[in-house]
Amino acid sequence: MAIPTSAEEANLNANPMSSSTTSPATPFRPGPDPRPETGPPRPAHRTAAVIPAAGRGVRLGPGAPKALRTLGGTPMLVHAVRAMARSRAVSLVVVVAPPDGAAEVRTLLDDHALPTATEVAVVPGGATRQESVSLGLAALPADITAVLVHDAARPLVPVETVDAVAAAVRGGAPAVVPALPLADTVKEVEPRTDGGPETVLGTPERARLRAVQTPQGFDRETLARAHEKSAPEGEGATDDAGLVERLGLPVVVVPGHEEAFKVTRPLDLVLAEAVLARRRATDGF
Ligand code: C5P
Repeated sequence: MAIPTSAEEANLNANPMSSSTTSPATPFRPGPDPRPETGPPRPAHRTAAVIPAAGRGVRLGPGAPKALRTLGGTPMLVHAVRAMARSRAVSLVVVVAPPDGAAEVRTLLDDHALPTATEVAVVPGGATRQESVSLGLAALPADITAVLVHDAARPLVPVETVDAVAAAVRGGAPAVVPALPLADTVKEVEPRTDGGPETVLGTPERARLRAVQTPQGFDRETLARAHEKSAPEGEGATDDAGLVERLGLPVVVVPGHEEAFKVTRPLDLVLAEAVLARRRATDGF
């Protein structure tokens, strides 16, 4: 593990979680166990984050896979892992690497300072995002009861957003998405690929629309069932909550954050660098 050099990495090591490699998400409470001797065992409630990072990110232009592009000199994936590991709710992070790049990703993570209280595992991903998330889920230990799925492409999500999603899942919601109202009016169109003008089919009422971000949080069993029920190569849902909706189960929204935007196009890289620079200037991040 590299010696931290930046203020960001010094901050990481100041994280009060950084004392053990396997501590549970919920702090141990000293004192007598309140469970009756004969009652059912209390569930452990361990939360893991799965980070699909196997995409090529072609919309960013040629170069390294998107998750390995740097922001402020640090790979986006490392920012994303740190963002999850900063949450006290998260005790394990599973990174889903490109199918042929798991060893490279493991080395990359080992070369950067990460909060040591959070275990970080790397597994090879698949051909689609959905397949990559399924492979991440399959790698989770049995005692994980809640899962956050977070795109490596959203490296700057603040810890408050991660905590809010995790808390809503622990509060009993089977599926939780962070989301923001839209600034733009949205049109539904008849898509065309020949470059000709697309015909507008309708205008959904903007006040009822939300732009959905990650991490999305789930009761583990619900998410596993949602993935099992949808064919990996079928009509891909663009997010995991969409798969849960198909099961007919409720999905609830918590407030998203403007800094949790997805780095998709070259201009997003400019914005992400500006956000990082502002954080460094204002709070020594
Ligand atoms: O392509 P898109 O931006 O929607 O990808 C969202 C996330 O899914 C990214 O973090 C990307 O690395 C990941 N992904 C994946 N496996 C794939 C395709 C995308 O893990 N086969």
